[in-house]
Amino acid sequence: MTLYKVFLLVHLIAIVVWVGGMFFALFCLRPAAIAVLPPAQRIPLMHAALGRFFKIVVVAILLVLATGVTMAIVSGTKSMPVTWLWMIGLGAAMMTIFFHIRAAPFARMGKCADAQDWPAAARHLEQIRLGVMLNLAIGLSIIAVMKLGQF
Ligand code: HEM
Repeated sequence: MTLYKVFLLVHLIAIVVWVGGMFFALFCLRPAAIAVLPPAQRIPLMHAALGRFFKIVVVAILLVLATGVTMAIVSGTKSMPVTWLWMIGLGAAMMTIFFHIRAAPFARMGKCADAQDWPAAARHLEQIRLGVMLNLAIGLSIIAVMKLGQF
């Protein structure tokens, strides 16, 4: 196994953690929390779970960037396939959206949760949901572009 393959493996594991975590949060954790918990318990649970997940995503992003940039430099940045350019552009969009979610609606949700203002916290949580949904769609699109090739 070459070092390049190790970098590719780490790149893919970081993507699996990020994209898979978004899928779990949207389609398992959120509906289950809505089904079984009142807002006073659901909002703190979602805030605590997202807070832990977002810390992991920061590490995943650092790994994606470190491995991705290294592989791109090793492969030669002058003759990159179009699929790679899509991956890098859409990946940068995903990262921008993530850091916006963390700095704006997630931070506001925390303040509202501390003040026990559940309706306001739920509104910020809804903004987080939309941002994560968008990022999940972009992430799956990048994987499709990379695996289906140029079109
Ligand atoms: C924005 C920074 C990124 C950079 C610089 C980058 C760079 C790279 C490079 C150079 C490769 C190696 C391609 C090869 O040798 O075949 C690669 C593979 C890959 N990347 Fe990225 N990437 C980035 C972000 C992302 C993101 C955000 C995703 C998905 C959400 C992603 C998904 C993939 C996949 C699925 C492969 C493997 C393709 C295969 O198995 O052939 N990348 N990336």
